[in-house]
Amino acid sequence: AVGKIIIAGNWKMHKTQGEALEFLTVLKSKVEETDEAREIVLCVPFTTLSILSKSLHGGKVRLGAQNIHWEDKGAYTGEISGPMLTELSVDYVVIGHSERRQYFGETDKTANLRVIAAQRHGLTPILCVGETKEQRDAGEAESVIINQLQKGLVDVDQSNLVIAYEPIWAIGTGDTCDATEANRIIRVIRDQLSNKNVTIQYGGSVKPNNIDEIMAQSDIDGALVGGASLDPVSFARIVNYQ
Ligand code: G3H
Repeated sequence: AVGKIIIAGNWKMHKTQGEALEFLTVLKSKVEETDEAREIVLCVPFTTLSILSKSLHGGKVRLGAQNIHWEDKGAYTGEISGPMLTELSVDYVVIGHSERRQYFGETDKTANLRVIAAQRHGLTPILCVGETKEQRDAGEAESVIINQLQKGLVDVDQSNLVIAYEPIWAIGTGDTCDATEANRIIRVIRDQLSNKNVTIQYGGSVKPNNIDEIMAQSDIDGALVGGASLDPVSFARIVNYQ
């Protein structure tokens, strides 16, 4: 690793408040011994932020949201703003996830506005980038990612930033990107940054059985975990990688 190690679960649209509390009870019991140098983050639906924030008590697990609007308030039905998140002890926010880009019209421009808003409120943005299968097959993976970074990072302070490299073809498919290839792309990403110590995570079918190899790579500073973060035992195993 180069930057600070951050293992984040992205629950996506999963778990009620009751299910979230059950999860947290088990997770907490399994990360008591985890090295303090590893930041553990749960990026959860807006509806579970409040109850989880009350149960964390400033412990080892930190909270993240999955989206943020760029305005602080206004006529934006269905959106959530920075002040609404900071009130709930949220520290991180996932921005520009490929599912937001694919299903909800997120663009590099809107992702950029959200990253800037997150930083304005003292939140750490986790900006997601990654190529499709077609782009990879056409040899365009690097250029696509560089373009996403250039547009997503306009006027962004790189001292409070996390990047997640998520090849879209590896998300939810069980088809993990080869660890050495993920590391190679993450080096391409690092080359684009002015702050070389930014935490750069890998995401896409991270599981208990591949996390050790992923984290053994020179430039991978953590993981953004989808499906395997829904079960506290499997997520704890990922957090406690060897
Ligand atoms: O944000 C998480 C990623 O989209 C990865 O999801 O671990 O289910 O493949 P996954």
